[in-house]
Amino acid sequence: MGEVGKHTQMKHRLLGVYLSICARNVRSQKSHDFIVVDLYANDGVSYWPSGDELWEGSAQIAAKWVSRAGERAFCILNEKDETLIDKLKENTKKYNKVIKEIFSEDANTICQDILDEYIPLDAHSIFILDPYKHTELKFSTIKSIANHCKEDQYHGVPFIRRPELIINLPTFTILKSKTQNQQFITDFFGTDEWIKAVKKAEKNKTSQPEALMKVYKTQLQRFYPADGIVPIEIRTLEYNAPIYYLVFVATHPLAKKIHSTFEDWIRKKRGEFRKEGFALKLIAEAKRKQIKSLDDWA
Ligand SMILES: C[S@@+](CC[C@H](N)C(=O)[O-])C[C@H]1O[C@@H](n2cnc3c(N)ncnc32)[C@H](O)[C@@H]1O
Repeated sequence: MGEVGKHTQMKHRLLGVYLSICARNVRSQKSHDFIVVDLYANDGVSYWPSGDELWEGSAQIAAKWVSRAGERAFCILNEKDETLIDKLKENTKKYNKVIKEIFSEDANTICQDILDEYIPLDAHSIFILDPYKHTELKFSTIKSIANHCKEDQYHGVPFIRRPELIINLPTFTILKSKTQNQQFITDFFGTDEWIKAVKKAEKNKTSQPEALMKVYKTQLQRFYPADGIVPIEIRTLEYNAPIYYLVFVATHPLAKKIHSTFEDWIRKKRGEFRKEGFALKLIAEAKRKQIKSLDDWA
């Protein structure tokens, strides 16, 4: 994604670890497709302004782990900016075997077509939603993804199978523009409840980013179970303020096992993150002991 700040490297590390855990869990399964859709792909790579280090962006990360996830795994990439598409193709060409399509459309428009054409209702699918700003993602898009669902069972446990989500919630950018263009923010949240929540946090001197995250979580809970929503706060130590949340969202009973493995990894790495100037806070430190007894994804 071209020149980036240090916090972006943090996002890519989290994304890579999460998708590697998913790939490990789905590799053995033969009965479902595994599909990762990166709707805000950029050009596939990242580098510092100095240009002296290059690393994988979300599209390369997604394609790499999909290519290691077994036979029925593929990914779909989308990037609205047409000028990035040639670079995106070049940067992901070693994974061509698993890349089904590369689109250049508004994510909010192409999303339904992708769902209808490429995502069977019984697939294990993950949508990566990583806009720069809240103006680029509407809650109506989350709704259409979540509504692509079917009733299902896992080892006799009923659940509603919906695509999984990885969402970047850009709280810093939202709060910076909270007095202008409120309608964009309302479209992002799918409700104007965020206005009350921010005012209340202002009055009580509590965290405004946390208040926004809470509103978003309530909205997601219309479709996803509370214990299937894992928000991770990424905070810079320099300003001691959250810059964004990465939110991992799922309904499958076994996704909880993936979330739990992921959270364990984050806990182990906390010291390392701090040395790099970041604190990662797990918002839902849920007790998931019962999950440990479930079998691997099968
Ligand atoms: C934060 S960057 C994505 C970075 C990438 N996911 C990564 O981690 O390497 C956001 C990207 O979304 C693109 N974009 C902005 N609005 C969009 C929209 N409505 N639909 C699809 N892409 C959009 C931008 O051009 C930009 O490349």
